[in-house]
Amino acid sequence: MDVHSVGIIGCGLMGSGIAEVSARAGYRVIVREINEELLQNGLNRIRNSLGKAVARGKASQDAADQTLARIQGTLDLADLAGCDLVIEAAVENMALKKGIFAELDGLLAPHAILASNTSSLCITEMASVTQRSDKVLGIHFFNPVPVYPLIEFVRTILTSDETMATAREFGASLGKTMVTAKDTPGFIVNRLLIPYLLQAVQVYEDGLATREDIDTAIKLGLAHPMGPLTLLDFVGLDTTLFIADAMYDEYKDPRYAAPPLLRRLVLAGHLGRKSGKGFYDYT
Ligand code: CAA
Ligand code: NAD
Repeated sequence: MDVHSVGIIGCGLMGSGIAEVSARAGYRVIVREINEELLQNGLNRIRNSLGKAVARGKASQDAADQTLARIQGTLDLADLAGCDLVIEAAVENMALKKGIFAELDGLLAPHAILASNTSSLCITEMASVTQRSDKVLGIHFFNPVPVYPLIEFVRTILTSDETMATAREFGASLGKTMVTAKDTPGFIVNRLLIPYLLQAVQVYEDGLATREDIDTAIKLGLAHPMGPLTLLDFVGLDTTLFIADAMYDEYKDPRYAAPPLLRRLVLAGHLGRKSGKGFYDYT
């Protein structure tokens, strides 16, 4: 099946990045947000990222202008009805995602593929509310999407070979390297990343070292681009907490149990870079 137009649900950190890379690859993109302010914030994030790509010599001004022209924002889900592929990148909440999947299933043409960018949640459960479970899969991008070269596909027991082939063609057209995981909480990357990030919060909460020393130790000692507390702020403390809770819920394994400090920071509205404060202050 050929993909011509791509719908994106959510224009937050991930949705804006997925919209950008899809439009850069030549697809017509329509991205849906829940209110005008969030939509404009997301579209501005795309503009800034394209500006950075031009400044770094990764794209010409002309290509950036054409990319922007291929992206349309909307508040109305019905505007996505003509899309061949829809990638859901709303918040990490199963009830919300199931609601979106059910609504889209009734709206999209029979051939259309429905994907979720979820970090941890069960794709089979999302497929269960649709009449097209063979056309449902996980397409998991990494943050920042324009920079990170990986897509993790999540294939359920019901995902068809044809859907996988179309998804692979789409991923290849974005220039991404692709891996495939079974539909288990956290897939490959977050199965390994989340216990590490949670342990870093625990180490900080235990007072073992300052946040700066924890980050410097990992950055320079293990050659990571960011220390774990900086990475938590970058990913979003709310998103990390949702992922940890979802993984703990399924595995009942203490490695996925969120330390009290993480939950309290989220309750206090300290969500990381996106809210101006997390482990560090960005205001
Ligand atoms: N478009 C295209 N290219 C861009 C770009 C853009 N908008 N912005 C930056 N780049 C390119 C730059 O040109 C540069 O490439 P070169 O090295 O070829 O010049 C490269 O990207 C790095 O850019 P910067 O120098 O601006 O950035 P930096 O060196 O400060 O690194 C960072 C920023 C990429 C975010 C880096 O700190 C990093 O990799 N951090 C870790 C992020 C991470 O681990 N992400 C995964 C999170 S887990 C996840 O996503 C899954 C989940 O479910 C939670
Ligand atoms: P975010 O909070 O930055 O953005 C989520 C956006 O979804 C918000 O702007 C919100 O208004 C919007 N939204 C909520 N309900 C909606 C609806 N019904 N229709 C349209 N938009 C809606 O979160 P994010 O970091 O972009 O995460 C989005 C998804 O991507 C989550 O499932 C997350 O687990 C996953 N993910 C996140 C990262 C990361 O590093 N942050 C990496 C990979 C995957």
